[in-house]
Amino acid sequence: MKRALITGITGQDGSYLTELLLGKGYQVHGIIRRSSTFNTGRIEHLYQDPHEPEQRLVLHYGDLTDSSRLVTLIEKIRPDEVYHLAAQSHVRVSFDEPEYTGNTTGVGTTRLLEAIRMVGVDTRYYQASSSEMFGATPPPQSEDTPFYPRSPYGAAKVYGYWMARNYREAHGLFAVNGILFNHESPRRGETFVTRKIARAVARISAGIEQNVYLGNLDAVRDWGYAPEYVEGMWRMLQADEPADYVLATGTATTVREFTQWCFERVGLDWEKHVQFDETYLRPTEVDALIGDASKAMTDLGWKAQTMPEQLAHLMVDADLAALDR
Ligand code: NAP
Ligand code: GDD
Repeated sequence: MKRALITGITGQDGSYLTELLLGKGYQVHGIIRRSSTFNTGRIEHLYQDPHEPEQRLVLHYGDLTDSSRLVTLIEKIRPDEVYHLAAQSHVRVSFDEPEYTGNTTGVGTTRLLEAIRMVGVDTRYYQASSSEMFGATPPPQSEDTPFYPRSPYGAAKVYGYWMARNYREAHGLFAVNGILFNHESPRRGETFVTRKIARAVARISAGIEQNVYLGNLDAVRDWGYAPEYVEGMWRMLQADEPADYVLATGTATTVREFTQWCFERVGLDWEKHVQFDETYLRPTEVDALIGDASKAMTDLGWKAQTMPEQLAHLMVDADLAALDR
């Protein structure tokens, strides 16, 4: 049985990846943070009692700021594959907490890579790199596009990207960077724009709220569906040679268009319910991200299936259904 270690298992991608790997027969180990309230909601349906004889989902406390714990866990689990997904992943928040973001999203990556090197375990390593690294470089963006990060988060991810490449080139680690464009789902954190809109639309249509407050409606993103992207992560680690890959739909959608699609789904006029709030603007914005994922198609046979309008509809439907429960 293959063993995988997932950092960030409680996040959107971690939860879908856990489902995928359990379905493929893996034993999945996940690192969770100690918190005063439960933070395992997204993987609750997968939880297995530690007293079960053949437990295939095992959770361990740990934190990206705690290097000795990462060493202990790598030594204990000896994973065949490591998916490094944990991060302070919110771009707007990274302007408020640049040091913490650098410590976790950036140096946290080095702590994990160094733990793997020190223990000397033979493993394959996935680095959750981001289209945010392209920042101000105009689209379309591919594996060869230069980085120009526009946020502390983007800068921390560029550092993590190069550390993963360095461990590949300097130490021979099978390390890959998945440069993923925005991917969303009903499990997306409530403060990212797609989920914020979908959730608000459901609540407005149910009469619970009247308005949603948003920032920049002109930003262009390439929004795909998260379950498809975690499958791409897995494919990267099954390749013969380690390499870096963009995953994206190749489509361009403004925040305004996404908003309109969500409101149309429930028969409402978006302009009557959306208000501007400058709190949600960023000191520097990434104007347009549109990915070219042709290398992933050629080498891995990966292609995005769900397009942004369909994504908007499925997210609104899920938030409506959640209100009925
Ligand atoms: P997410 O939902 O925000 O999940 C982040 C995960 O990291 C959570 O499990 C969180 O734990 C954990 N975490 C945060 N700080 C930690 C720390 N100090 N120590 C240990 N764990 C910590 O993110 P996501 O959307 O699933 O994204 C997964 C990864 O892909 C992230 O690295 C993100 O930056 C990157 N990425 C995402 C996208 C996207 O569009 N979703 C695109 C490109 C790259 P808690 O649950 O306890 O908070
Ligand atoms: N969050 C948020 N809230 N964003 C808003 C709002 C709002 O009220 N109003 C407008 N926006 C705009 C942002 O300015 C940005 O241009 C766009 O909506 C998308 O914002 P987010 O959903 O927060 O995502 P992001 O693109 O900044 O970052 C996400 O994608 C990256 C990949 O490109 C995150 O998942 C990152 O972790 C990921 O790396």
